[in-house]
Amino acid sequence: MNEQLTDLELVALARQARENAYAPYSKFPVGAALLGRSGRVFTGCNVENAAYPLCTCAERTAVTKAVSEGVREFIAIAVVTATGATPCGACRQILREFGGPAGDLRVIVADTAGNACTFTITELLPAGFTPDQLG
Ligand code: THU
Repeated sequence: MNEQLTDLELVALARQARENAYAPYSKFPVGAALLGRSGRVFTGCNVENAAYPLCTCAERTAVTKAVSEGVREFIAIAVVTATGATPCGACRQILREFGGPAGDLRVIVADTAGNACTFTITELLPAGFTPDQLG
C-alpha cells in the first residue's frame, strides 16, 4: 500500500521524526524516514550524548530500527535538516550496505523550507566498499 508513498510524504515523515531529535550539543536536529521494499517506513533522528563521539546520526537510527525488525531491503530514505545537508560519510557507507546490489537506493535530501534534491547512494558514495568485495 505504501508503494504509493510519494517522496513528499517520505520527506514529511522525516520532518516529523526530526522533532524527536536529541541534539542539545550541536543544536542541529536531523530527521530521517526509510522506506522498505515491503512498504514499511522506519523513521529516525539523531541522538547525541555528552560523550560526543557516541552521537548517532538520524540515518543510522532508521537503518538500525529497520534491520532489527528484519527489514533489509529499501527503496528510499528522506533526510531533513535546516540546511538540506547530505548524509555524512559514515552514514553513506551504512546506507550502501543496504542500498541493493546496484546501489540504487534513493536518498532524498530536504531542508525545512521544502527544497529537496535526490541522489542515489552510489552517487553519494562512488566506488564505495560493498559487501561483494569481501569475496
Ligand atoms: N547528523 C546526522 O544525524 N546525519 C548526518 O548525516 C550528518 C550529521 C547529526 C550528527 C550530530 O548529531 C549532528 O547532526 C551534527 O553533526
